[in-house]
Amino acid sequence: MTALVVATGNPGKVKEIEPYLAGLNWELQLKPPELEMEETGTTFRENAAQKATQVAIATEQWAIADDSGLEVMALGGRPGIYSARYAESDQARIAKLLAELGDIADRRAQFVCAIALSRPDGTIALLTEGVCAGEILTAPRGEGGFGYDPIFYVPEQGMTFSEMPLEVKQEISHRGRAFQEILPQIRAIEV
Ligand code: IMP
Repeated sequence: MTALVVATGNPGKVKEIEPYLAGLNWELQLKPPELEMEETGTTFRENAAQKATQVAIATEQWAIADDSGLEVMALGGRPGIYSARYAESDQARIAKLLAELGDIADRRAQFVCAIALSRPDGTIALLTEGVCAGEILTAPRGEGGFGYDPIFYVPEQGMTFSEMPLEVKQEISHRGRAFQEILPQIRAIEV
């Protein structure tokens, strides 16, 4: 089986990414923890590609990376690609976002996830993006998930990402949509 290195150090993301890849005929490996990834792109796609390429070259294996974040319409799309760097902890990021939004009535937001697959030589074989639209609540709701999940409400489900069973989030989330698109393409790659 060919190895596939999952290029993320975020335990919340690893937990969500692994089930998508579990059915593939690749041997999944986690990124070596000491391997730091640079993220200097200006789009989710650029950052996903950059991370996949760096990890592929360093490990000399195929690598898959995602870059994701939350775009809030009333904030001109912020925090966007800076979602992870917006504040020090999940709790602080949520508090900062709620404070910035204050009582603004327009609560529309979307999560975006770009996924890149790099060949061992660092060239990008596949690159895709998924989006999930929702609204920012005025206070957190639910226990599950990670990151901004407790304040991201999806009207079609009547739940925040935190309140959803993982299978439901896996199906409808930005990451889920991006994986649904890329998985058949990964299966089609002959290694
Ligand atoms: P990065 O892709 O590692 O740069 O980090 C993206 C950041 O966006 C995460 O640290 C979270 O704060 C946020 N994020 C991305 N996807 C999700 C999600 O599914 N739920 C909640 N927060 C997310």
